[in-house]
Amino acid sequence: MTSPTYAARRGQLETYFDRTAADAWARLTSDAPVSRIRATVRAGRDAMRGTLLSWLPEDLSGARILDAGCGTGALAVEAARRGAEVVAIDVSPTLIGLARERIGPVAGRGSVAFRVGDMLDPDLGRFDHIVAMDSLIHYAGPDIARALAALGSRTSGSIVFTVAPRTALLTLMHAAGKLFPKADRAPAIVPITTRGLARRIAREPDLAPFRLARTHRINSGFYLSNAIELKRGRP
Ligand SMILES: C[S@@+](CC[C@H](N)C(=O)[O-])C[C@H]1O[C@@H](n2cnc3c(N)ncnc32)[C@H](O)[C@@H]1O
Repeated sequence: MTSPTYAARRGQLETYFDRTAADAWARLTSDAPVSRIRATVRAGRDAMRGTLLSWLPEDLSGARILDAGCGTGALAVEAARRGAEVVAIDVSPTLIGLARERIGPVAGRGSVAFRVGDMLDPDLGRFDHIVAMDSLIHYAGPDIARALAALGSRTSGSIVFTVAPRTALLTLMHAAGKLFPKADRAPAIVPITTRGLARRIAREPDLAPFRLARTHRINSGFYLSNAIELKRGRP
């Protein structure tokens, strides 16, 4: 069961990524020229994707991976190239359509099954690793912790994901964003501290077998995001 706040936010994100920002998102995730500001975001996101992928085992042959909130599917395709059987899910049918158009043949033994729906759907089955790049950043702390708990109960290896760090600059940008007309606004990114999140994670029984294994911040112009790895078992 997901909370009413989680469901409401997921609905806003579906509208935003599926309609309001679908074209901008298609462009940002392609090789097409973008503004200087967006180029910094693209570079930051490329670096973040590389970081998260580098935290997974090098050989992913036969590993089942969930790309939770996969967008146009770049990370899923990379994981499949390394041999993984990826389930890539997003709540936006438009972005999944684009991901299916873009994928082409996957070199190697891996595969990607794209799905439209909620990343927390238990019918997706169990996984060796779960990746959620910039898809939990729009949810509030309690919903992130509950989502991680639901995902953790289905993962035998690790969950690698990102959160928006709480910094003075981000708080300022967040406040400035509120000056724009409501219709043009993206659903707010919810900045959280790693310490605050760690406290919430510690309160989730399903996450007790996991430890916070590492974190890494990427700051590239207008892109600022913290990568976190939750890993099952003791070091
Ligand atoms: C900022 S985009 C990132 C997409 C992709 N992970 C990437 O890094 O290119 C966030 C994505 O998460 C998806 N999303 C948000 N909440 C979701 C949920 N509960 N279930 C499935 N997808 C979700 C959105 O539709 C959107 O495509």
